This record gives sequence, structure tokens and C-alpha cells, in this order.
Amino acid sequence: MRRAMAEAEVGDDVKGEDPTVNDLQKTAAEMFGMEAALFVPSGTMGNLIAVMAHCRERGDEMIVGDLSHLHVYEQGGSAQLAGVHATTVTTRPDGSFDLKQLESKIRHGYPDPHYPRSRLICVENTHNIQGGRVLPLHFLQDVRALADQHGLALHMDGARVMNAAVAQGVPVAAILQHVHTASVCLSKGLGAPVGSVLAGPQDFISRAVRCRKALGGGMRQAGIIAAAGKLSLQEMVGRLEEDHHNVKTFAQALIDCQPPLFAVDMAAVETNILRFRVEDPTLSPEEFCARMGQVGEGEEAALGQGIQVLMYPHVENSIRAVWHLGISPEDTQLAIQKMQFVASQHLKGKVETQ
Ligand SMILES: Cc1ncc(COP(=O)(O)O)c(C=O)c1O
Repeated sequence: MRRAMAEAEVGDDVKGEDPTVNDLQKTAAEMFGMEAALFVPSGTMGNLIAVMAHCRERGDEMIVGDLSHLHVYEQGGSAQLAGVHATTVTTRPDGSFDLKQLESKIRHGYPDPHYPRSRLICVENTHNIQGGRVLPLHFLQDVRALADQHGLALHMDGARVMNAAVAQGVPVAAILQHVHTASVCLSKGLGAPVGSVLAGPQDFISRAVRCRKALGGGMRQAGIIAAAGKLSLQEMVGRLEEDHHNVKTFAQALIDCQPPLFAVDMAAVETNILRFRVEDPTLSPEEFCARMGQVGEGEEAALGQGIQVLMYPHVENSIRAVWHLGISPEDTQLAIQKMQFVASQHLKGKVETQ
């Protein structure tokens, strides 16, 4: 990837003259089954541009999941920078919504001056907060039918949609056929150092180019990073299966830990994100993650080496762990050894204080 970056042919992408960026955008559009695509600096900017390009009148409204990244982790950029109002639907554990609730959120008052105008529905696939859950294809089909029925646009925050495609065993275009536009991260599991691609119809992408420039996302010789992004799409998708396998291996080890200390819903372990709980109230998620991250007393003697594993406390008292190309099956085995060591030390400490 570093070599591809060093050797990339470049030009001024603000003028559309960077051949490597153009190549990446063409590759992405073809792969996604979309008319056109645009290279953007981040997933956050990709989502914001999508909101701006779909909701063109100040005060337009979008419908988003209450646990979506767009709503929770993007600093309300749609409101503060795009002047777009959000209304939320409840995110179900699998990342989907109740269709009746979704429909009830669509406004019919326009042009009555009391109401904003519904313009956009956003879905997230895979769902980050819900632990990498994959949206069922029939759900996407139903949401699209609802959007079409009411003349709304449907955008997918597909930061990890490649993981969804691999988990479902379908080409990514089979997922994206159900949405009008999508933003896909080349970083994260696909391993590029930076960048996302926003894709959709040509007229949407033409508007998106203007929004990107207004947000300061027009980059000059961006081919250096686009070269890495192109490799991500062409060579890194196939290996995502390994991440999914590693997550399942670790999740099973949590379940098998003796004596039992962890709770995992195996049916919810679908891609490269794992959410689990510590069942013992005397070991908080914060304390567990801190112990996983540092080399404990007696660890080197017990395990033959010090092992540091980064995880972090997450919503509703859970713990979040993510796998990517930097974590091999061997690393996963080490993480399992460490988890078992932390669990045994905790239980030993409890017995000693009793
Ligand atoms: C679902 C989802 N969307 C968007 C983003 C934002 O991507 P970026 O960090 O590239 O801005 C993330 C980042 O974690 C994400 O998980």
C-alpha cells in the first residue's frame, strides 16, 4: 500500500485532473453499482455531504436511527453546518427500524409553515453501536419501498458495508441497489490510512462535489491517498472474512471461560465488531479494559510474555472490541490467553478477599 502511494500518478483533483482519484472513483462506482462516486476525506464528511446534497432547503428534515453514528457521533454536523433537522426512530438490536414507526415520522404538512419537510431517510450498515450488525436485505427493500412511496431519498452510512457484503455472501452492489446513495469507508477494516467514497446518481455527485469544496474537503494531489483506497477496494475485501472468523473465535472463548464471567449473544456476532458484557458486578467494564490493556503482576511468568489488548467500555455497560487487518489469528489467540489470565486473576482476588 505504501508503495502504491509512493508511485501514484497525481494531478489537481479540485479540477478533476488527478488520474488516480478518478480511477478510484470509477472503480468504486462500478463495484457499488452506482452511476458515480466521489472521494472524500472521512466517513463523517461523506455523511454530511450526503445530507447536504439531499436536503437542499434550510430546515429540511432527515429521519435517522437514534443510535446511528450520524446522529450520535458526528457532533450534530447536519444541524450545525447543513441546517438540517433530524427526527429519530428507535434503533432495534439488529440495527433496523420498525417500519410503522418509521412511516409515522414522515411529515405531510409541507408547505404548512409549522412543519419541516421530510427529505431523507438514513440507515447504517453494518451498525456500529449495535456491534457490527448486518441489515437484512428484506429490511432495506422495505425501507426503499417506503422512501419511494413518499418521495424521500434513502442514504446508507455504509462505513462498513463491505463487512456486511462479506457476511451475507453477496456482492456489495446487491446491498446498495436498495439505496439511492451510500458512503463507504476505505479506512477501518479495509486498511487504507484515510478516506471514504460517497456514491450515487450523477446529479447527486455533481452537487456533492460543490458541498465537499464548501466543507474544505477538496484536496489537490489526493492521488497519493486514493492509491491506497483503490487497493483497499481491490485487495482487502476478500480478507474481511478472516476478521469475522477471529471475532467468533474470541467470542466463543469468552463463552467457554471457566468459571463463567462473560455474556455474549453469539447470534449477534456477525462481522468485525464484538460487544460483550462482564457478568460480575465487582468487575466493571472500565476495570476489565484497563487490566486487558496493561501487563499485570505475574503475567509474564504465567503466559511467557506480557500481552496488551485494547478494548473499551461501551454503551449499556458493555465492552467493545474490533478486529482489523492488523490483528491476526495468532494475535487473537494471545488476546484469548490474556482474557483468561485477567478473568482468573480477578476470581483469585475475589476468593482471597472473601
Ligand atoms: C458507522 C460509521 N459511520 C461513520 C463513521 C465516521 O468515519 P470517520 O471516522 O472516517 O469520519 C464511523 C466511524 O467510526 C462509523 O462507525
